[in-house]
Amino acid sequence: MVLKTLKVLLVLHMIKRKKIKLVSFSSREIEEKKAEQPVMVKICKITKESPGVKIFFFESDVKFTPGQFVMVWIPLLDEKPFTISYFQDNILGISVLKRGLFTSVLHSKKVGDTIGIRGPYGRGFNIKTNLNVCVVGGGIGMASLTTLVDKLNSVNNKQGLNITIIHGARTAAEILYQKRFRDMKLCTEDGTAGFKGTAVDLFENLIKRQRFDTVYACGPEKMLYKIFELCQRNKTNCEVSLDRYIKCGFGVCGQCDCSGRRICVDGPVFNMEELSEMKDFGKMTVTKTGERVIC
Ligand SMILES: Cc1cc2nc3c(=O)[nH]c(=O)nc-3n(C[C@H](O)[C@H](O)[C@H](O)COP(=O)(O)OP(=O)(O)OC[C@H]3O[C@@H](n4cnc5c(N)ncnc54)[C@H](O)[C@@H]3O)c2cc1C
Ligand code: FES
Repeated sequence: MVLKTLKVLLVLHMIKRKKIKLVSFSSREIEEKKAEQPVMVKICKITKESPGVKIFFFESDVKFTPGQFVMVWIPLLDEKPFTISYFQDNILGISVLKRGLFTSVLHSKKVGDTIGIRGPYGRGFNIKTNLNVCVVGGGIGMASLTTLVDKLNSVNNKQGLNITIIHGARTAAEILYQKRFRDMKLCTEDGTAGFKGTAVDLFENLIKRQRFDTVYACGPEKMLYKIFELCQRNKTNCEVSLDRYIKCGFGVCGQCDCSGRRICVDGPVFNMEELSEMKDFGKMTVTKTGERVIC
């Protein structure tokens, strides 16, 4: 008892002498801590966007910036990151490309099934106004740009922003959000829709003739690197959203490192200055076992 009292007195003395700092969390930090717990949500609608991509809708009142992501939890299986690609009247949507086990199990879910959601996480896109903007989405990377385009369109109505959207896919069947963004410039590798070639080819053609103030891009890293190089050469500002294997999603494990920057908290969206310092950008990535491999 005496020892306990002495300990309390010592701690109080240290606080008074400022040797121990009392940490207080702001309401924003407390909200962020709460976001580390998955919340189970019911899937209220599923739509098929292409043969390989489904959009899962659920109710949520989370506030997010375009480009941020949520961690989706399937109990007893795994947790993976997905960008918020739809938001209206408290209904949120994620677009999921069927790739491996996790996305296959997610694709087998029905309306009424539940999944866990935590987040949103990361740093999204910087919304620029009064500018000539170009948005470049390669494959499922277009999902990260959808709510950005929605936001830019709402600014556009007020301020006369000029938005060019380039969406590249391998074939016409894989093109996404065609009904949502009717004025997209399309390109396909096999020439079955729009320009025959890649999103980079089309962007390179455009940037020769047109001045963009900001370019936003998401897609395969090789594509992003080429877009970044073209922007550097043309002295055009760009922001790109990178993809790495994500585990915790909130900056603790270091799994998502790209040259000292964590994709989950410092990104996934990076600006030109940051990208030019990231030696691994476009070159190296980290597998789920921590092995560094070529992108
Ligand atoms: C910030 C962020 C946001 C993301 N948003 C979306 C999104 O909105 N929609 C979406 O469909 N996906 C998104 N992803 C990727 C998504 O998390 C992966 O598709 C998912 O992890 C695949 O899981 P899986 O278990 O089905 O496949 P896995 O078993 O992990 O992989 C199956 C095959 O796909 C390959 N693969 C897996 N992940 C990727 C990848 N990210 N890039 C390229 N190849 C890969 C693997 O090498 C393997 O060959 C995002 C990733 C990040 C980092
Ligand atoms: S996934 Fe853990 S630090 Fe980014």
